[in-house]
Amino acid sequence: MNLPKNVKIVEVGPRDGLQNESKAVPVDVKAAFIDQLASAGLQSIEVGSFVSPKWVPQMADSDKVYEKVKHLTQVDLPLLVPNMKGFETALENDVRSISVFAAASESFSQRNTNVSIDESLQRLSDVCAAALNKNMRIRGYVSCVLGCPYEGEIAPEKVLSVSKRLIDMGCAEISLGDTIGVGTPGQVQNLIQVHTAHMPVEKLAVHFHDTYGQALANILSALQNGVNVIDSSASGLGGCPYAKGASGNVATEDVLYMLHGLGISTGADLDKTIAAGQMISDYLGRLSASKVAQAKQ
Ligand code: HMG
Ligand code: MG
Repeated sequence: MNLPKNVKIVEVGPRDGLQNESKAVPVDVKAAFIDQLASAGLQSIEVGSFVSPKWVPQMADSDKVYEKVKHLTQVDLPLLVPNMKGFETALENDVRSISVFAAASESFSQRNTNVSIDESLQRLSDVCAAALNKNMRIRGYVSCVLGCPYEGEIAPEKVLSVSKRLIDMGCAEISLGDTIGVGTPGQVQNLIQVHTAHMPVEKLAVHFHDTYGQALANILSALQNGVNVIDSSASGLGGCPYAKGASGNVATEDVLYMLHGLGISTGADLDKTIAAGQMISDYLGRLSASKVAQAKQ
């Protein structure tokens, strides 16, 4: 198999995971979770989001969480920003790295951001210009790349047109999100090939939710097509409040087990990542969704 030798994991549990929890998680627990993930060797950890607290109250304390973890300067610590108001909050808090998000589906764009794809991209182009001006790193997400909860299948060319616009705005990396976890490996291959005809594969990351149990197979397909940045979430936390039925992200522990088994290095320690996932699962009062964590208990 022709696979990359090194892979960067982007740990999205503290944001994509905790944004979907009904139980409130205090700032100290979020910060301890991020600390543990950083000690486990994860190089990029999404801390939270500066979105409207009316829309996603779980993330309303992200400034306080960032304050507690920003000393982790060896780690990329992005926060999700939807508009200029969120960008101003990022600036006030000395954030060095942000994520922006758009959708490949019109209905999902409306549900998640209250505007059309085009309007959301116009809004993000202001955010990206301001962020570049402050030398911030920008990661761009595209949601619903392999299916939409409201519209069904999404054409890869539609995804590509959004990705291209985010690249043109200055995003260092595009994370292709299967928000509802419906895609299969052949579709992943096709989507990546449609993209790499227009941009270097180094610009691409993949973000799989595991609703239909396809996430690890989809990751392997992405790796075989040259992708070497993978989003995942400790203990498989996750979901999106605007994607009903979407289950958690693929578990970081399971991704690490597969990558290490393939001889791919990640810089992360599996046992320490399991401990971080265990800590947050215990707090939330549930079993970890990671198969590897369950097997090693
Ligand atoms: P809106 O209601 O259309 O915006 O929301 P608005 O401009 O009319 O503002 C309404 C209120 O929100 C106002 O407050 C604003 O001040 C406030 P009021 O005057 O009523 O008291 N507001 C804000 N407050 C704090 N920070 C802000 C902010 N902006 C406005 N940044 C908006 C538009 C985009 C803000 C809203 O739709 C929103 O916050 N959406 C975010 C939804 C979200 O976070 N979804 C989950 C993340 S995406 C995801 O999970 C997918 C991903 O993981 C990839 C994948 O899986 O595919 C990334
Ligand atoms: Mg997600």
